[in-house]
Amino acid sequence: MSARVGHILVLIMFIQISITSSQKNSDLVALQALKHAWQGTPLSWNDGSDPCTGGWVGITCTNSRVTSIILSSTGLIGPLPGDIGEFTELVVLDLSYNTGLTGSLTEAIGNLAKLTNLILVGCKFNGPIPSSIGNLERLRYLSLNSNGFTGSIPASIGMLKNLYWLDLSDNQLTGTIPVSDGITPGLDMLTRTKHFHLGDNQLSGEIPLGLFNSNMTLFHLLFDHNRLTGEIPSTLGLVQSLEVVRLDSNSLSGDVPSNINNLTNVTEMYLSNNLLTGLIPNLTGMNRLNYLDLSNNSFSESDIPSWFSTLEALTTLKMHYTNLAGELPATLFSFPQLQNVDLSNNRINGSLDISPNPSRQLELVDLRTNRISDFRQRRQYTIGLILVDNPICMESGVTNAFCSLPTKTSAAYSTPWNNCTPPSCGSDLVASPNCQCAHPFVGLFSFKAPSFSTVTNATIYDSLHNLLMSFFKNASLPVDSLSLSNPSRNLEDYLVLRLQVFPSGQPNFNRTGIIGVAFALSNQSFKPAKTDFNTYTFNAENYNFFSDLETGVAKSNTSSTGIIIGSAIGGCVLVVLLVLAGMYALRQKGRAEKAVQHNQPFAQWDSTSASGSVPQLKGAKSFTFEELRKYTNNFSESSQIGAGGYGNVYKGSLPNGQLIAIKRARQGSTQGGLEFKTELELLSRVHHKNVVGLIGFCFDQGEQMLVYEFIVNGTLKDSLSGRSGIRLDWMRRLKIALGAARGLQYLHDLADPPIIHRDIKTNNILLDQRLVAKVADFGLSKPISDANRTHVTTQVKGTMGYMDPEYYMTQQLTEKSDVYSFGVVMLELITARNPIEKGRYIVREVKQMMDKNKELYNLHEILDPTIGLSNQLKGLEKFVDLSLRCVDEKGTQRPGMGEIVKELESIMTFVGLNPGSEPSSSAGYEGAGQDFSHPYSNDSLFAYSGGFLPPNLHPK
Ligand SMILES: *[C@@H]1O[C@H](CO)[C@@H](O)[C@H](O)[C@H]1NC(C)=O
Ligand SMILES: *[C@@H]1O[C@H](CO)[C@@H](O)[C@H](O)[C@H]1NC(C)=O
Ligand SMILES: *[C@@H]1O[C@H](CO)[C@@H](O)[C@H](O)[C@H]1NC(C)=O
Ligand SMILES: *[C@@H]1O[C@H](CO)[C@@H](O)[C@H](O)[C@H]1NC(C)=O
Repeated sequence: MSARVGHILVLIMFIQISITSSQKNSDLVALQALKHAWQGTPLSWNDGSDPCTGGWVGITCTNSRVTSIILSSTGLIGPLPGDIGEFTELVVLDLSYNTGLTGSLTEAIGNLAKLTNLILVGCKFNGPIPSSIGNLERLRYLSLNSNGFTGSIPASIGMLKNLYWLDLSDNQLTGTIPVSDGITPGLDMLTRTKHFHLGDNQLSGEIPLGLFNSNMTLFHLLFDHNRLTGEIPSTLGLVQSLEVVRLDSNSLSGDVPSNINNLTNVTEMYLSNNLLTGLIPNLTGMNRLNYLDLSNNSFSESDIPSWFSTLEALTTLKMHYTNLAGELPATLFSFPQLQNVDLSNNRINGSLDISPNPSRQLELVDLRTNRISDFRQRRQYTIGLILVDNPICMESGVTNAFCSLPTKTSAAYSTPWNNCTPPSCGSDLVASPNCQCAHPFVGLFSFKAPSFSTVTNATIYDSLHNLLMSFFKNASLPVDSLSLSNPSRNLEDYLVLRLQVFPSGQPNFNRTGIIGVAFALSNQSFKPAKTDFNTYTFNAENYNFFSDLETGVAKSNTSSTGIIIGSAIGGCVLVVLLVLAGMYALRQKGRAEKAVQHNQPFAQWDSTSASGSVPQLKGAKSFTFEELRKYTNNFSESSQIGAGGYGNVYKGSLPNGQLIAIKRARQGSTQGGLEFKTELELLSRVHHKNVVGLIGFCFDQGEQMLVYEFIVNGTLKDSLSGRSGIRLDWMRRLKIALGAARGLQYLHDLADPPIIHRDIKTNNILLDQRLVAKVADFGLSKPISDANRTHVTTQVKGTMGYMDPEYYMTQQLTEKSDVYSFGVVMLELITARNPIEKGRYIVREVKQMMDKNKELYNLHEILDPTIGLSNQLKGLEKFVDLSLRCVDEKGTQRPGMGEIVKELESIMTFVGLNPGSEPSSSAGYEGAGQDFSHPYSNDSLFAYSGGFLPPNLHPK
């Protein structure tokens, strides 16, 4: 070989090596940037070891390049920095169930050309989904559900030709569903996609005719709970692979397309709660249909369709308010799997015949408010049959038992004890089915289209339990046992089931264990195939029981990138390389520092020397003492509108006429300048329609004052007590509850940092001129900014009667403490009683008086008489149910504010009010499916490099 060729070879080698080494280096720099951007990273990230060889928990590398980042449910807090775009070899990114992850999803995500799985379930990301996501051409699995994403669905998602799973549900997406037009792409191009899960958003406009075509291979179409209008496109009938169709709770109108019954593989179909017209659709031939809900539409009067006698796979037939007329065929009731028939509020007439051999699974037949005049009772049935408000109930006789509303039995199920005696476990430990006390990993399954409607059937849950347990075993995850409990149908008609996973061998999981368990569920690695549950979504609660001794392999102090390079080559080339690498590293370091600064806007603010400087406030104005003195007429008595331990509140008006409320700290109760500033900075970042806005402050002449907008109608307490003269009827109270809930949800979920109010009560909820509720008074509020995201240990403060007993006992403050107080406020809203009145506690009073079998739960006596006549209190029972969940003794059992907002919205919708367009972000979702031909038939679909877990997630 000539010397010249030799030189060239060396040069090529040199270039190759320097390129790979600088890429490795950029991965390292980007990892450092993640570490700086986030609080709560695993301890193994801090001990100076090499992320790849030393084993940073959650990071997997191949050839020294980062190929997976899986940090589900590890309590991360912070934004996702743009540096994520540096991981150009990344295949899997899962940051699910970190409710502290906020901010927008960076455009840089589009650089991850090798990415196959992008999973950000149940975080608090917001802002638009970047259109660069369309660059990820290898993407198979995209799950952005249960965040706060806004804006429209990027059309570029249509470019993801390998996409198998698309889940954007439970966000705040608006706009129309994009379809291609020859220039811009659209979802119609996703012919390999099996799952379109877009439910629980605010999508609007018509479902485009062009969205569906015969080349599609969709299994699940979930568009429920949006604002879609127009007709169901007839092209839907072309997608013959469909198994689940949920279009319910939209504003769809017109006739159901006549080819709908071409969808012969469909097993669950929900078209309920729309404005559909025309005759009831002809579903003849949909012989696999298990679950059908057509309720609440505007169909014209139709005779009982012939398919009532032929769709033998039905478990559930729901068609209330569908204008059905005629006599029911007895064959319907003998379908072998039939469980639940709800045909109430129709014009069904003639004679009822439940057949001599009704389905053995039949639980409930609800025919209330029809025109049935005769009942052929062939024998004693054990089913719940409701004939209330039919002519037959006007006569006395054998049917009496069916002429009053039956007792509702609530479904209680939880995984049974495994032949042992449950121990009593200390404070927050929970007994596992194997009777060990431990800290379980907890979350909720939501099944969006199970094939069944009964929630009481233990066999079904037992089999799910066994499947899941053997899955964890096979995956060698450190799971001792698990428990399923509290099955219920939520207001969106999803089957919700609580899961607790218990660690094996020790009372808590370490991060590796949690990541393994959480990823199995966020990535749908666990497939409940061949069960009636079909697919699911899962959302986990924060797990904050990691022991401080984080596991991890022993760290050696070897292996810096430089040394690896050094051993590969020698001589002067090394010197050159080191210089180059050094220059590169410097540049990257600069970038990392910039990234850090960017992510922590206050990083430069020195808290020790800052006392005298002006805090950084968004929009809040600094007033001088003189100014405020003038605006309040020298703090005159007549301008004083309130007083408390901290000082007085004054009313004033600005030169521009705006009314203000000034909270002036009493001399002696002022806080340190630094604390005051911290509080100010916190308050100035809070902007929401349902939260009282801060206008400014005064930090002058030894005074500390906060200046708020003045809210004209005063406190909710004043209105409930009649002092304000404003009459609050049930509708107004509902709106106020929803407004306050949204304000509080904002503080918990969207404020940055999140804020626990700590003193929610009717005195701290104000009403403006249009009776819009505004949450006020953050005197006791706590931002959750420390790494320990799930609770803050503090001195107990709050107001008796509203205070969370769990917080009182443990001094651990969580968002659920506010939820408790809010539950008390809800009870106060309907009773107008003080939480503690004449020694009686409202929560106990309501529970004692309540009888779920009676009208209005038998609460007439305790209801505030000015709330309205009892026949105008639609939805009150749901409201009471919700409030009692809020005041559950265990914080973990209480719903989050997001869920509360959703439930209140759905109560509003239920009573016929428009809940308004205020977005909500929260938990709750689900999958869908059926027995045969399961969507996950190809097991390799979600697999990652041959196994289901990246290697470093297997417990060592
Ligand atoms: C379906 O795919 C075929 C082949 O790729 C193509 O020629 C045809 O136009 C497609 N049909 C529709 C409706 O998109
Ligand atoms: C319907 O389901 C059957 C099996 O369950 C399957 O073989 C068939 O391909 C499906 N039809 C379509 C159009 O996907
Ligand atoms: C229904 O499907 C069949 C094929 O299974 C097809 O030939 C027919 O045209 C379809 N009908 C409609 C109305 O789409
Ligand atoms: C319903 O559809 C089936 C099959 O497409 C057809 O045979 C039947 O005549 C239709 N029934 C009515 C009432 O249109």
